Order: sequence, then C-alpha cells, then structure tokens
Amino acid sequence: MSHTIVIFGASGDLTSRKLVPALYNLERAGSLPPDTRIVGFSRTPMSDEAWRAGLRESTAQHCDCGPVDDASWGRFATRIHYQPGDIGQAEDFAKLDRRLAELEAGADATRVYYLATAPQFYEPVVTALGAHGMAAETRGPRRIVVEKPFGTDLATARALNATLHGVFHESQVFRIDHYLGKESVQNILALRFANTIFEPIWNRRYIDHVQITVAEEVKVGRRGAYYDTAGVLRDMFQNHLLQLLMVTAMEAPVRFDATAVRNEKVKVLEAIRPLDLGEVAAAGVRGQYRGYLDDPGVAANSQTATFGAIRLEIDDWRWQGVPFYLRSGKAMSCRTTQIVIGLELFAAGRRTFHREPNRLVIQIQPAEGIQLHFHTKVPGEGMRLRLTDLEFSYSREFQGRLPEAYEPLLLDVMTGDASLFARADEVEKSWEIIDPFVRVWHSVDMPPVDVYEPGEWGPVASAEWMAAQGRTWFDLCPVLT
Ligand code: BG6
Repeated sequence: MSHTIVIFGASGDLTSRKLVPALYNLERAGSLPPDTRIVGFSRTPMSDEAWRAGLRESTAQHCDCGPVDDASWGRFATRIHYQPGDIGQAEDFAKLDRRLAELEAGADATRVYYLATAPQFYEPVVTALGAHGMAAETRGPRRIVVEKPFGTDLATARALNATLHGVFHESQVFRIDHYLGKESVQNILALRFANTIFEPIWNRRYIDHVQITVAEEVKVGRRGAYYDTAGVLRDMFQNHLLQLLMVTAMEAPVRFDATAVRNEKVKVLEAIRPLDLGEVAAAGVRGQYRGYLDDPGVAANSQTATFGAIRLEIDDWRWQGVPFYLRSGKAMSCRTTQIVIGLELFAAGRRTFHREPNRLVIQIQPAEGIQLHFHTKVPGEGMRLRLTDLEFSYSREFQGRLPEAYEPLLLDVMTGDASLFARADEVEKSWEIIDPFVRVWHSVDMPPVDVYEPGEWGPVASAEWMAAQGRTWFDLCPVLT
C-alpha cells in the first residue's frame, strides 16, 4: 500500500528544518517506502515547483547530510506536492481531499496527517478532518501526528485529547516527542534490559540519586514571544525531561510493543509522589539568564524561568528514597544532555579511601555514549585513589552518521508503531506533575527569579540547593566528544 504524508503548516519552520530534511535523508538511505508522497498544505499560494525549489534550498541548509545531490533530490522531488489552502475554509479541505484521492489514484493508501502548524490550529485541523470524513479508515489507515506543545497545562491537554478522540481512535494518534527518536535515548532501554550487569544495581539499594540534565548553550533568540509564555517547565520538563525520567526508571516491558512499553512508562508517572503547593517551592530552583529581558518578544518585567531544576520522588519498590533531579536551561555553559546515575558511596570507603561515589553517565548529546566512573589506585602513591572511567562512544564503535531523531519516528508513524510516541494518559499525567510547579513559579508570592550569567550552570541558588541536600551537580561539559 502506498503512503501519503500530509503536512499542515507546510511553509513553517518545522517543515523546512526538520521534517523534509528527515524525509530526504530517509530517501537517500533507501529507507523511505517507494510509494511515498508528501503533500504540503498551507495558506501561502505556491506551485508544486516553487515548494520543491524552496525545500531544496532549506534542506541543503538543515539536513546535516552534506551537499544535496541532484540524483537523490531528483527522485525525492517527484514525491513532493503542494496544495494551497486555509485551515478555516471548509472548501479548502474538500479540495485537499480531492487532491489526495487524485494523487492516490483512488487506491487504498496509508495517510499520515502531520500537524506542523502553530498549536492554535491543531483543534481546527482535527475537527475539519473529521467533518470531511478524512479520518475514516475505509481506504487504508489514517494517522495523525501531533507536535509539541501538547496543551499548555492539564486542562488544555485534556481538551486537545477530547477533540482528537472525537475524530480519531487513540491508536491513530501519534504525539511526537523528538527525544524518543534519539538513538541514545532508545539505547537506555537496551542498556538496562539487555545487560544483566546493570539490573541488580538499578534500584534504591545501590543508587543514591539520579540527575537528568538538558543544558543548552543557545539563548531564546527569535522565539521570545512563544518562550515567554511557556518557560522552561512547559518547553522542556513536561515533555523531554519527563520522557528521559520514564525510560530511566521504568520496569522492563513484557514485550517491545506500544501497549506494553507505554504501560510501564505511565506507571512511573503514576508513582511520582504528588507535591502540594506548599512543598513545590522547596522542590525546585528557577533562574533567568542575564539579557533575557532584552530578547525580542519578551515582556520587560518577565519572571519567566529560562533555567529550572526540580526534585521528584518515585514511590515504588525500586526507587523509594532515590531523588530524581531534573535540570534544564538556556544560555548554559555548553550543550549537553546527560543522565547521571549516582551510586551509593561505600560506607567504609567514606572513612578510609575516597569521598566520591561511582557514577554511570549516559550522554545523549552532543556525542552519544556511556561512561562508568570508578576508582583506581594511583601508581606509586600508596592507597591514593582517583576516579577514572570506562567509556563507550557511539561514533567510535559504529561508523556512519546516526539518524536524526525525526527519521526513525517518521518511519514508525508510517508503519503504525506507536511505542516511541506519548499516549493520551501519559501526556495528561505529565501535566499533572508539572502544573503545580508552573503555578507556584508563576505566582505573585514568589520572590523575583534568580538571575544567572550566560555561560554558567544556572543561578548560584541551584548549587546551594543541591549542597543543602548533601549532593553536588555533575557540572561537566560533554564528557564524550
Ligand atoms: C524543543 C524546545 O522541544 O527542544 C527547544 O522547544 C529546545 O526550546 C529543543 O531548544 C531542544 O532539542 P534538542 O534536540 O536540540 O536537544
């Protein structure tokens, strides 16, 4: 059966920066199913040729694949079509429906509707697809991909789920979080569940705490208008950081299928101890980089956090008493995403040998790999010990480029595998956890947000907050390069 990918928001940034480059890379690798067509829909009046030409340029800029070559682009371009239209106009949807039927030559096809528009258009597109019978699966599977942000709080996420479920079955809905498409995130599952060496220590008896850091060097830049209403909690915590927490903490699924994997992930969220509003302020630190207020689109007196650190507790047999520290910020000292498993300090060792515990560092980006930190005797210096490491690096071990996160995820939607996509209950539970932090951090009773200098690891208060809990942040720029 052929495939049709319909992109709503065809002239937007996401389409040109991520989606089309990912599809082009799949084409080059020979992984895109042969009968795939890509149909763009947006208001800009454009011909097929004009859209193709624009995409060739933007793909060359963003595809991370070297020069775009004529042969592969030539093949790829024949798949690309454009249909101008307005989401608010019923007749434009009718035209789109006719165009799709024409391109599919009346045959059955798998259709993927991709919501790459601004979020306020998600519900109108879904409703219009329903009204035109375009979600019905009489002529092949119909799937919808919903980008983040999935709502701005629990209430709006529930409303969006209700709109989706009014038109699509849950099995047709693919809520994308590109962090789950990263090779190294998926490898956490392999590391944990394919290696007997880690399983016995992956619990409260051996692990003191877990740190999950997503540090970005970039500032908010041109995205001020969006970012100032979102802040780091909505932009990074509700989705990417909680996803990393779930894959780190979940139990082994009985099968690697969408139901079993997502059941286990949701159980982690269900086990996170709810905090009342009084506890929330002490369970986190927020900061704002100096200069944020001058970024375009940012309110002059904005209290929006561009840095956040929070502490969550998972009340289950495996994790009770092991804090999970989640931290993310813009304008930090470097770009790195790391999960640090801090092991218990050997009690006798505390007195005799050393003060630093073993660590397992899983680096998600920029370079992907794993380091195990352990003590070694320094030669010739009695029992003086030093922390050294064992290292696995993806690039050293496996040749060739790692696929960009959108590549495997797009293929998964085409084949109908939802394991790496968030389920309705998963996004709602995530908002339930993050909402109280948003409420407290935005409350007028909070002291002014702490300012940090760009290039630091957030405000000083963040290190002090950790120290007060007897721990230190693992503040190392990429341990693997
Ligand atoms: C996006 C956020 O979801 O993730 C951005 O909206 C952020 O603010 C980006 O920069 C980070 O993604 P990555 O893959 O570069 O770590």
